[in-house]
Amino acid sequence: MLTFTTNSRTDRIPAEERARVLADPGFGKTMTDHMVRIRWTRDGGWENGDLLPYGPISLDPAASVLHYGQEIFEGLKAYRHEDGSIWSFRPQANAERLQRSARRLALPELPTDDFVESIKVLVDADQDWVPDYGTGETSLYLRPFMIASEAFLGVRPANEATYYVIASPAGAYFSGGIKPVSLWLSTDYARAGDGGTGAAKCGGNYASSLAGQVQAAEYGCDQVVFLDSSTHTYIEELGGMNLFFVYRDGRLVTPQLTGTILEGITRSSILQLGSEMGLTVEERRIPIQEWKDGVASGEIAEVFACGTAAVVTPVGTLKWDGGECTVSTEPGEATMKIRETLLDLQYGKTADTRGWMQRLV
Ligand code: PLP
Ligand code: COI
Repeated sequence: MLTFTTNSRTDRIPAEERARVLADPGFGKTMTDHMVRIRWTRDGGWENGDLLPYGPISLDPAASVLHYGQEIFEGLKAYRHEDGSIWSFRPQANAERLQRSARRLALPELPTDDFVESIKVLVDADQDWVPDYGTGETSLYLRPFMIASEAFLGVRPANEATYYVIASPAGAYFSGGIKPVSLWLSTDYARAGDGGTGAAKCGGNYASSLAGQVQAAEYGCDQVVFLDSSTHTYIEELGGMNLFFVYRDGRLVTPQLTGTILEGITRSSILQLGSEMGLTVEERRIPIQEWKDGVASGEIAEVFACGTAAVVTPVGTLKWDGGECTVSTEPGEATMKIRETLLDLQYGKTADTRGWMQRLV
């Protein structure tokens, strides 16, 4: 396992300023005092890591990440429990997904233990940045990422890569409380295609979702929902969240993993929790028409989006070119139950019987 050298910052952000940020963190606005860095070379493999003061990184302008987008990332959270301890939710699953993303983007795989240790090192150094227990949906959002840092303009997998972890205190991803969000159905843009990188968590997927997100905003919607790019028929996911449908007859349905959508850790957890709650879970292809018809007939009772940042967010209206439908103007019962079950587990309010929580500090 790698070891980490600590270079603590002497000019930490003053406690008053930190308190001000923690009182209303928003999402992704303020970074903590430190970051972790681990370098990799093709000849030497992973080097031991460093904990460094947070700050700009110096990159050669020819670094391949800047030209060919060879980059992957992860997103997970650190939660404060009532006794002051700090925990994360299924970090091994994030480590394994980063490894899958690395294989797809021809980047090196960071071993699971080193990934988890890198997070521990950062959270330990910046533990004062983890919001207090009982302050609502607050946590420290952790953003591990890896870039091709070799200075070389030829198109081939880089021989040097650098992995970092940064952290940012987080409140709710959507401001305005738990009210249903509206979605724009993108028919002009796709996020991913067959054989592409849709199942990898790489920056390029997010870049390609932005034009759709801009269009969503133009139509007054909060987020964009993408269809499969081959047939423009089946629901895939949002730019940064997976989707679930709750049927009146007790089914919980989500698009199956086709290689073009991200395998959300929240998604897989909800499939298990839903089944334990007695819902009939289905992973299958869902035609977009089924959404429209199901809302019209009342067969679909609730729709929600989920992800680390968004947790579980109710969806109200779907808008498309020429129409719209609203499943509900209030958060649904099953949605809220799943949301509470997940949050109670993450904040240590209920016993972790599944081995999902890992203590960091
Ligand atoms: N889909 C996309 C495109 C995402 O970016 C995310 C967020 O990470 C998710 C789904 C949900 O994944 P997870 O639940 O692992 O955060
Ligand atoms: C997450 O939920 O962690 C995400 O990555 C979504 C978005 C902030 C990119």
